[in-house]
Amino acid sequence: MPAIDPALEARLAATAEARLASYLELLRIPSISALSEHAPDCRRAAAWIAAELSRIGFEHVEVQAGVERPVVYADWLHAPGAATILVYCHYDVQPVDPIDLWETAPFEPFVRDGRVVGRGSADDKGQIALHLAAADAFFATRGRLPLNLKIVFEGEEESSSVTLERWLPENRDRLAADAVVISDTGFFEGDLPALTMSLRGMVYTQIDVVGSPVDLHSGGYGGMVENPANALARIIASLKDADGVVQIPGFYDEVVELTPEQRAATAALPFDEAAYLARTGIAALAGEKGYAPMERKGARPTLDVNGIWGGFQGEGAKTIIPAHAHAKVSCRLVADQDPQVIFERLRDHVLAVAPPGVKVDVRPLGHGQPVMTSEDNPVAQAALRALRTAFGVEPLRIREGGSIPVAAMFQQVLGAPVVLLGFANPDSNAHAPNESMVLDNYERGIRTVCALWDDLGQSNTGGAGA
Ligand code: BES
Ligand code: MN
Ligand code: MN
Repeated sequence: MPAIDPALEARLAATAEARLASYLELLRIPSISALSEHAPDCRRAAAWIAAELSRIGFEHVEVQAGVERPVVYADWLHAPGAATILVYCHYDVQPVDPIDLWETAPFEPFVRDGRVVGRGSADDKGQIALHLAAADAFFATRGRLPLNLKIVFEGEEESSSVTLERWLPENRDRLAADAVVISDTGFFEGDLPALTMSLRGMVYTQIDVVGSPVDLHSGGYGGMVENPANALARIIASLKDADGVVQIPGFYDEVVELTPEQRAATAALPFDEAAYLARTGIAALAGEKGYAPMERKGARPTLDVNGIWGGFQGEGAKTIIPAHAHAKVSCRLVADQDPQVIFERLRDHVLAVAPPGVKVDVRPLGHGQPVMTSEDNPVAQAALRALRTAFGVEPLRIREGGSIPVAAMFQQVLGAPVVLLGFANPDSNAHAPNESMVLDNYERGIRTVCALWDDLGQSNTGGAGA
């Protein structure tokens, strides 16, 4: 293992078993934020984490009162003159369906082939567990941390962070920090260590197309009345052309194009297309013409149908004109697209192309701003050094296609730089059946965090809020 303080390493070696047991214990709590019947489990996960934070040595440990999926806060602020870092992760997880595709029960985690298998193992409880382990190593060996830490673990990231969005401005003053370290991202294809430099934003919508109040006989009425499912198909087909270019007027207006240097940097990433196709089981790559695959994922906006339904779904044939048809449609956004503006352009376009004879409604179901970070701050630099120390290779700088809406909120509300330091393996099956976290990423992730805190503790960079 890599060169961190030998005393920390000794503590980590001595606690390896207990640490893994506690990680698995957290995974056993089914804290699914999307399903209200799991709200008690979300509170249980919050209480479990709060108890751990107290046991380890954090102070001011709080579980937010009066909400279903509480924010957990804790701090330790006794390193005057040293940097103050806010750490963010989320303890909520995605629903488990389709359950029959899980090889084992999602909330009965276990270790197999060097991976922890279970819902939340990578997204994002494993990353909570590795931060807890790193902090424990410091408190146990030195009785203190080398810098000031503020912990914010939320329970609603997978459901748009509504609670945190309200909590953040209310707690602005006590959250002051030199940087926000968000551990909810992952490595590059091939499990290559990376620092994430940007995330996409998103706008999520539902399109409802309604014709007659009831299904109609498709012989008796077909040809004379508009079919909502056909109308929806035409609407969806109008959203994107065969070259993968979104056809909504104004969709690309605010998109910041990559500079030639950024394009060269993206092209230099060691993307192995054949390995990617083999891993995902996909026949060929697709996407916007004129852009390389990694540009399409990280630097270009997209539009996708996430779900589509309507009409007869049963066995055999039923000749109807369905009364209604529906689709969930979302866009991933990049700087400087604004989710609200893009929603309005999407809605206006859909209403403009909707044929007469059906009622069409476009509703917003969630949104988040894209976020760009910079390497030009001491904490990002230290994070790169810490990854080098713990993984023994030069970390890549990558643009992720996923979204963490709170990242931009932290930037805006706290005015602090955000550093996206996450450890999930790209083949983690996040949000899918058989989610897993590579144990070596978790173990080296702990060393990365140890190296980072020690590095920042020595650099006397700040003292915000300490
Ligand atoms: N951890 C992910 C975000 C992520 C995905 C980072 C892929 C890096 C790579 C996060 O938990 C997530 O799933 N976010 C949602 C946001 C949505 C619910 C607003 C997403 O990206 O779909
Ligand atoms: Mn996540
Ligand atoms: Mn997620």
